[in-house]
Amino acid sequence: MSSISLPKFPVSRPRRTRLSANLRAMLRETELNPGDLIYPLFVRPGENIQREIVSMPGVYQWSVDRLAAEAQEIAGLGIPAVILFGIPEQKDPVGLENFSSEGVVQQAIRAIKAAAPQLVVITDVCLCEYTDHGHCGLLNVEGQRHPNLPEGYVLNDETLEVLGKVAVSHAQAGADVIAPSGMIDGMVGAIRGALDHGQFEHIPILSYAVKFASAFYGPFRDAAESPPKFGDRKSHQMDPANRGEALREVALDIAEGADMLMVKPALPYLDVISAVKQAYPQFPLAAYNVSGEYSMLKAAAQNGWLDERAAVLEALTAIRRAGADLILTYHAKDAARWLAD
Ligand code: PBG
Repeated sequence: MSSISLPKFPVSRPRRTRLSANLRAMLRETELNPGDLIYPLFVRPGENIQREIVSMPGVYQWSVDRLAAEAQEIAGLGIPAVILFGIPEQKDPVGLENFSSEGVVQQAIRAIKAAAPQLVVITDVCLCEYTDHGHCGLLNVEGQRHPNLPEGYVLNDETLEVLGKVAVSHAQAGADVIAPSGMIDGMVGAIRGALDHGQFEHIPILSYAVKFASAFYGPFRDAAESPPKFGDRKSHQMDPANRGEALREVALDIAEGADMLMVKPALPYLDVISAVKQAYPQFPLAAYNVSGEYSMLKAAAQNGWLDERAAVLEALTAIRRAGADLILTYHAKDAARWLAD
């Protein structure tokens, strides 16, 4: 008697479709292309600076004069867009440089548009990199503004006014897409209103609609020199435990006029990406593969514990499979090179 008796009737054997590379390629359900990627850039004051971020090997802070070459390299790799983060010269309670025409981001936008006009320039709009306290909005300090609101409370509606100014200032400098990231209630509507009022009705909004209060932003706060000086961001960023609330946030941002949506971080929240895509398939969805996700893979690869190329391409493909159309990632340049091989 033979040791195993297999059924004689036709039975599905998925392995038949995995035998050769071409067969696997023909049947692959998810594509990953350089055209799906958005590369974050950190810009700082000074000249001739390319400073590596210690906790993010291979990622740099750039001075504006060094951006032209970098932008051309990014565009040359087939990456269609960058998102800019600024480290200002000076910080203050309001973050005045955030909406100055000579601010570091405004200069960077002009430099990039001059060097690589086809590159889509997205700007992150938030207060945290610009305020001396490092919070994402104006604060209720010493009760002087609103005695009934808690001390240190991030003032919602006063912050909206500043966000509107920042968005208009970025649009004036030539930004193509405005991406508010502060999780302030009403931010999309306020920015839409300010842009329209400033005759920037043609500038779309990519909303960080679902942004969790995540430990995975740690290395970014080194990169952007923006950790909160006290407290945390749990009063405005979402609880990592919540998925239903994510759909509520998305519904609000759509009602306020968001053109594109984002979920952030990406890898620990693939279920949220999937839920948002299923609920709103008609909206372009981006996912932010954040600094901590990058640093984890990078550290493991540097220790020889993971094959960097395979692990990165697998992670990015998984984010696309979950439902993201676009991925903001620090791996973008490497991934674009590997995909072209
Ligand atoms: C806020 C902002 C943050 C990130 C993008 N925009 C930091 C935060 O909310 O604390 C994080 C990005 C990353 O970790 O890569 N301006």
